Amino acid sequence: MIGATGLVGSELLFQMINDDYYEEVIVVSRQKVNVLHPKLTQHIIDFDNLDAHAHLIKATDVYCCLGTTIKKAKSKEKFYLVDYIYPTEIAKIAKFNGASSFTIVTAMGACKQSTFYYNRVKGEVEEAIGHLQFKCCNIIRPSLLLGERHEFRLGEEIGKAVAKGLEFIMVGGLKKYKPIEAKVVALSMYEITKEHRDGFHIFESAYLQEVYNEEKYASYANI
Ligand SMILES: NC(=O)c1ccc[n+]([C@@H]2O[C@H](COP(=O)([O-])OP(=O)(O)OC[C@H]3O[C@@H](n4cnc5c(N)ncnc54)[C@H](OP(=O)(O)O)[C@@H]3O)[C@@H](O)[C@H]2O)c1
Repeated sequence: MIGATGLVGSELLFQMINDDYYEEVIVVSRQKVNVLHPKLTQHIIDFDNLDAHAHLIKATDVYCCLGTTIKKAKSKEKFYLVDYIYPTEIAKIAKFNGASSFTIVTAMGACKQSTFYYNRVKGEVEEAIGHLQFKCCNIIRPSLLLGERHEFRLGEEIGKAVAKGLEFIMVGGLKKYKPIEAKVVALSMYEITKEHRDGFHIFESAYLQEVYNEEKYASYANI
């Protein structure tokens, strides 16, 4: 798992270690995850030198929740590194090491022809990973994420306020624009991956909301 310290990633990690589906959960990150669990193995790596850590990027199912923002990364180039280069390089290594599935969180509106840089990079990463032809490849496209962040993101806060005001029209075809809880994204991507559907699949935000099951989530939370 990559991106385990993030909003979606930390939820996903919590669910994976509290479920008995996997015998071992391997986290590869640049800083330690504040979780101790007998099933959890952690590797701290240098993402700019992924080849040197290739032997650690080895699993049956790979989950990627990596990402940043242009503001946080401070340049488009650095954003591209985190949201395109790292995921694609990790995917190549994981495929070489025998991974059968790759599940990645991109974003609603991902499109390599987009005029918006963020959406374009997300579209490009989806395509690059698709080309690697994993037995199963799942693209998870959430809308605006909801959840407790340790940092303040003005753009997200404005997006949430606007979405809240428009909540009443976010039904039917517009449901995909409805902001989504990080825990919903995490649980849905986890359940989707466990299905092991062969081929390349894209899951939009409205579908993720449908897959989410509160009882299933509570069963992890109670352990
Ligand atoms: N924010 C939204 O509303 C939204 C909406 C749709 C889709 N998404 C996408 O959903 C995905 C998950 O989002 P999120 O909000 O859960 O992300 P997040 O909380 O910002 O976490 C991002 C993860 O990526 C890691 N990361 C960032 N820069 C890194 C670097 N230079 N080297 C190594 N690791 C790095 C972080 O590790 P550290 O803890 O070490 O920084 C963290 O584990 C992202 O791809 C994001 O673009 C977000």
